[in-house]
Amino acid sequence: MPHVALLGTGRLGEAIGQRLLQQGVTLHVWNRSTSRSRSLINNGAILSKDLCNLPINCREIITVLRDGSVTKNVIEQLGPLNNRCLIPMGTIGIQECKKLASHIEGKGGRILEAPVLGSRPQALSGTLLVMAGGEPELFEQQRPLLNLLAEDPLLVGPIGSGAATKLALNQLIASLTHAFSLSLRLVQQAEVPVETFMSILRSSALYAPTFDKKLQRMLDGHYADPNFSTALLRKDMRLFLEEATAAGLQSKGLHGLDSLLQEAKGGDLDDLDYCAMHELTQPKA
Ligand SMILES: NC(=O)c1ccc[n+]([C@@H]2O[C@H](COP(=O)([O-])OP(=O)(O)OC[C@H]3O[C@@H](n4cnc5c(N)ncnc54)[C@H](OP(=O)(O)O)[C@@H]3O)[C@@H](O)[C@H]2O)c1
Repeated sequence: MPHVALLGTGRLGEAIGQRLLQQGVTLHVWNRSTSRSRSLINNGAILSKDLCNLPINCREIITVLRDGSVTKNVIEQLGPLNNRCLIPMGTIGIQECKKLASHIEGKGGRILEAPVLGSRPQALSGTLLVMAGGEPELFEQQRPLLNLLAEDPLLVGPIGSGAATKLALNQLIASLTHAFSLSLRLVQQAEVPVETFMSILRSSALYAPTFDKKLQRMLDGHYADPNFSTALLRKDMRLFLEEATAAGLQSKGLHGLDSLLQEAKGGDLDDLDYCAMHELTQPKA
């Protein structure tokens, strides 16, 4: 079984690590705060303390870090890459991904970006949706590893196309959640029973499964135990807007949602489930 290094054992990284261990991978883990690697180490992962000296037999290095700049900083600390393959799985921008690729290649490494849709449950069960970007030959080489995390990993195109696909999907997460939150508030204000509203919505072409997934949390105001936080969704929304602007798209319609999410910055909602944005659509006192 391969030796794989995993850099970043936060919410998603930890779940990816557990899945790889369970599938028999020899896993070397690094995280800025070692305490967040504890559960993996207890399950057999090997702690790497020094980014500069990752074991030579780790030919694949997966990163699941907060954002593009953290990923770049961490990769800069690695020693010479000697043809090893970097697999960034966190969500980063298209341009950031392309710059990362030049940097990695400059250090003698190779890169296959592999952002994912899905969260901890999907990582733990090996059912993430992987949208890879890079060389087809490298994708085929890494397919067995990706298959431990995803039933049908897809190569969507060259470097940067994985990031573009992922940002396009996360824009939908933000927009759909926001749209649902506002509609839910309006029917509640008008004293229409929520179940009546939901039964019409469920029978319509407008329905998205995420509505039912988040409905109870929104009704209860229960946003604890997140798989994906408000802070990270805000980060992805901002990345989407930057890329859309660079692509010359008219994205004015999204600016309101972006500024709404900015209101949560640094506050209690930041580390809660992203559907805590429902708190931001409350009627003003
Ligand atoms: N959670 C999901 O469901 C999900 C799904 C798809 C994609 N993603 C993406 O995957 C990435 C990780 O998400 P997550 O939910 O696992 O986030 P998280 O729990 O907040 O973990 C973030 C990771 O980045 C590290 N980090 C943050 N700032 C750092 C710094 N300055 N230097 C070094 N390391 C730093 C953290 O280390 P510490 O532990 O030391 O803070 C941790 O390992 C993000 O890009 C996110 O958008 C997440």
